[in-house]
Amino acid sequence: MLRITGKTDVYGIFGFPVKHSLSPLMQTAAFEALGIDAVYVPFEVNPDNLGGAVSGLRAMNIKGINVTVPLKEKIVPFLDRIDEVAAFLGAVNTVKNENGVLSGYNTDGDGFVDSLEEEGVDVRGKTVLLIGAGGSGKAVAFALLNRGAGRVIIANRTLDRAVALSEKLKSYGDVEAISLEDVERVLSSADLIVNTTSVGMRETDPPLFDYEVIPPSVVVVDIIYKPFKTELLKVAEEKGAKIINGLGMLVHQGARAFRIWTGKEPPVDVMKRVILEQL
Ligand code: ATR
Repeated sequence: MLRITGKTDVYGIFGFPVKHSLSPLMQTAAFEALGIDAVYVPFEVNPDNLGGAVSGLRAMNIKGINVTVPLKEKIVPFLDRIDEVAAFLGAVNTVKNENGVLSGYNTDGDGFVDSLEEEGVDVRGKTVLLIGAGGSGKAVAFALLNRGAGRVIIANRTLDRAVALSEKLKSYGDVEAISLEDVERVLSSADLIVNTTSVGMRETDPPLFDYEVIPPSVVVVDIIYKPFKTELLKVAEEKGAKIINGLGMLVHQGARAFRIWTGKEPPVDVMKRVILEQL
């Protein structure tokens, strides 16, 4: 049973909305599993009140928070320090409070690559066809290059956005921008296909491209975990491809946040189990 005392440390998540978040469940289970006297609670923070909420972290000695949509970029100017990854992305998903000094991190991209490693997928030297050039696409593309991907081809509905992202990333590795219409042309050269767009969250979403042409040799990853198996993953599986959904990314971005806050090895299996039970 959860036992809150005067010594219990408080952690949480800022989001707007935040009701859908699975992080409170996952992080509280992690604290409990390791016998750490801490709780993790949701904070619904209207973007207009973000400055006040961040001051509140210092004022109330809240030890750490995660940050989710639509606050990841907006929180940056309110923090005291930003690590290299978060600085590059211009977005923070994890904040650690050390005696009122707030440091911002971003564990999304590395959490994504960790989730591939967990599934036995080594990104080093691989060619990745990455669909989407928004915040998630940027985080994933940057981590893939940092962790040794050989080539990242960014495909986006709005080509200009893919081009802009590829320009930003080009000093980190081999990057190319293409429009969504050209995806089928490059499919045969890809070892991995990654969807970082929101397409597939709704059953009525039209496909990003003709999924029937997915070769069995490719690994197909969707960062969506609700639904558990998007149309992209369903068809890819039928075609014989290995598929990975976004559950692992969710767990591993949280695991990295946990490590930043506590310095302890996160109980990844426990974190994954409580989320699976919820979904
Ligand atoms: P996030 O931070 O979650 O990545 P975002 O910055 O709004 O969200 O980016 C959403 C991504 O999904 C973009 O790459 C977007 O393509 P555009 O840049 O062309 O807008 C992509 N996306 C959203 N809806 C889409 C759709 N119906 N078809 C194709 N791409 C879509």
